[in-house]
Amino acid sequence: MEKIAVVDFGGQYTHLIARRIRQLGVYSEVVNSGVKSGDLREYKGIILSGGPNSVYDPEAPICDASLFTVGIPVLGLCYGHQLLCRSLGGDVTHGAVHEFGPAELRPDRSHPLFQGVSPASTVWMSHGDEVSRLPEGFHAVGSTADCAHAAVADDARKFYGFQFHPEVTHTREGNAFLRNFLSLCGCTFAWNMGQYIQSLETRLRRQCEGKKVFLLVSGGVDSTVAFELLNRTLGRDRVLGLHIDNGLMRKGESAEVLEFMRKQGFDSLLIQDASARFLNALRGIVAPEAKRKIIGETFLQAKDEVLADLKLNPADWILAQGTIYPDTIESGGTAHAAVIKTHHNRVQGILDLMAQGLVVEPLAELYKDEVRELGAQLGIPVPLLDRHPFPGPGLGVRLLCSDGKEEAIPASAGQSVKEILSARGLSGEILPVKSVGVQGDGRTYAHPCLLRGTRDWKLADAVTTELLNRVRAVNRVVIEIGAVEGSYILEAAECTPDRLNFLREADSLCTHALREGKLYGLVWQMPVVLLPLLKGGKPALVMRPVLSSEAMTARFAELPFPWLDALWKRLQDLGSGALLYDVTHKPPGTIEWE
Ligand code: XMP
Repeated sequence: MEKIAVVDFGGQYTHLIARRIRQLGVYSEVVNSGVKSGDLREYKGIILSGGPNSVYDPEAPICDASLFTVGIPVLGLCYGHQLLCRSLGGDVTHGAVHEFGPAELRPDRSHPLFQGVSPASTVWMSHGDEVSRLPEGFHAVGSTADCAHAAVADDARKFYGFQFHPEVTHTREGNAFLRNFLSLCGCTFAWNMGQYIQSLETRLRRQCEGKKVFLLVSGGVDSTVAFELLNRTLGRDRVLGLHIDNGLMRKGESAEVLEFMRKQGFDSLLIQDASARFLNALRGIVAPEAKRKIIGETFLQAKDEVLADLKLNPADWILAQGTIYPDTIESGGTAHAAVIKTHHNRVQGILDLMAQGLVVEPLAELYKDEVRELGAQLGIPVPLLDRHPFPGPGLGVRLLCSDGKEEAIPASAGQSVKEILSARGLSGEILPVKSVGVQGDGRTYAHPCLLRGTRDWKLADAVTTELLNRVRAVNRVVIEIGAVEGSYILEAAECTPDRLNFLREADSLCTHALREGKLYGLVWQMPVVLLPLLKGGKPALVMRPVLSSEAMTARFAELPFPWLDALWKRLQDLGSGALLYDVTHKPPGTIEWE
């Protein structure tokens, strides 16, 4: 079988590269950066992934230098591109301009890598370093306004490098670039996805041999597909589902989950109301990572309590989770990946069970769109599969908390924001809250910048890219859809039942409005976030509608302004002081704010 190896340097998109290659019809595997060239002899090509480090850091991961002498074509991406060039005698330096987000590539269309592509092609950048001098034998085959060596080639040795990420959907012709590389490797594009499902079922039967399986079912797409798959593969008598109501669910959600599962004929699903336990555990906790970890650990305690009540013999059971690939990689779960956020199913208690081989995760290699594809093949109704994803920690990661102490924002950041905005006739301010983001494969925790004075999505997009590339203290940009009089004031705020109820109502109102406006299917996901900020004494909300296909990258969605104005009126009636709209792509923002 023709195979492509993706060497993993801890990039956020490493598995996405493999996924794209498989979608193009060539089998692909992710291998550790320590792999020896001898182990790669039967591969048709090698792709070096991105990664969070700088290649000149003393601890930066490198690869076996003999990978470059075995005569296999190599494509380096972002960090991999810099590593390739540096290993072969070129120079990498900290770039004058950091590029995050879209850039326009001007490719050399006479080169086989760019056969059939447009003369100016949007590519997705996420880097601070750049290749400043090429190694001998290389020449540039594509550039952007800020990056002279955006695409490079050594045709004699079949070595290639892209500073951008062809694997993300926002690089519009990324698949064409990758297909051209696969052709240069001599691939015949004969692999298909059906084989993957078969091998998954075989693996599950082996992993669960002699055991029963216990699955936490949130009722979201992933756990529903995992439950269906396990029941089908292992038989209903070996699978028990538990839905824990953590008090952080959306309005009416737990009841809906139960009803759907009953309709599907699953009577092996238990429901446990643990909301009081979760809210007690979260009392006084405001830091995002601390909240996520507590939610994850509390799930485990609630599960253990149910197991103990049922008097099940732990030796007979293993835990199954509906973890999908982004949960693992963003929790820092591959060799060199930075922790973006610890997803609830990657907390220490779970990692300990995993080390003992007591956890099975049938969907752990898959992305959301693949999970939906698998679910459809298992006969799960499409409207159910097409629901927006909802994170395991639920509203817990959408209810931002604070100890009420304002952090100093560097005066230079405020000055830069002012200059960038006034040059375009706009105004704005850095807000005194923080949220999680991702830049250059690492995690950020910084402030949103409020942008006033525009209702032009294109302009908002351009200003956002400029602000985020130039002002370190800012990792998101929001525009104000509506607000009452007064300033934005930070308040001390925790996960209290009152705040949760307010967010739950606001979320329900926004979701209904999306459906009424026939916008639900156009948007991939739309978190509604409650900030620890008061405007005119009333709580400020953020809406974060995004377009995505696998959650690893996303664009902000552009919803109609008349619809937004009507929504703001309804939220104002509910008691909100401001409705903000997140216009940040991922990267550099994440989809959720925590
Ligand atoms: P981010 O915020 O990382 O989100 O861009 C990517 C996707 O993952 C979901 N998400 C989670 N899902 N447990 C989950 O099951 C979690 O802890 C978690 N955090 C984020 C998020 O809703 C989005 O779809």
